[in-house]
Amino acid sequence: MFLKSRWLSAFSISPTLAMLCTAISVQAAEPDSHLRVLAASCAACHGSNGNSIGGTPVLAGLDAAHFRLQMKSFRSGERSSTVMHHHAKGLSETEIDALADYFAAQPRMAATSPKPLGSL
Ligand code: HEC
Repeated sequence: MFLKSRWLSAFSISPTLAMLCTAISVQAAEPDSHLRVLAASCAACHGSNGNSIGGTPVLAGLDAAHFRLQMKSFRSGERSSTVMHHHAKGLSETEIDALADYFAAQPRMAATSPKPLGSL
């Protein structure tokens, strides 16, 4: 009887433990939700994960120190810009640091452009 109840409790605890471990490891691998929302606001112009198509600078794989410097000079007005001074002014130092590390870690994709209509 004693043995049986020990087995039962071991089996009922382990699924809970397994779920907890999965939740913790998923959180560690993913950027936090605030950072994801910030990065998504850049995607409209800089593309998904910083891989822009067209004339907007690519942010994916950009050196983090270069990224920080650009954002700070947009903010101070040292670097003139069409839109970036607005975006840079809305971000804190901590957010700029987090975005710099996030974009530096994104793989840079080869540029893709739409195929000409004749080649379909
Ligand atoms: C409305 C379009 C738009 C949005 C949204 C936008 N950017 Fe930009 N970004 C630009 C343009 C255009 C430039 C080139 C400088 C300029 O003219 O403002 C640029 C330049 C940059 C550069 C300089 C890159 C280099 O190598 O010189 C960085 C860094 C940057 N953006 C980061 C961001 C981040 C981070 C966000 C989101 C918080 C963001 N941008 C949102 C349009 C945008």
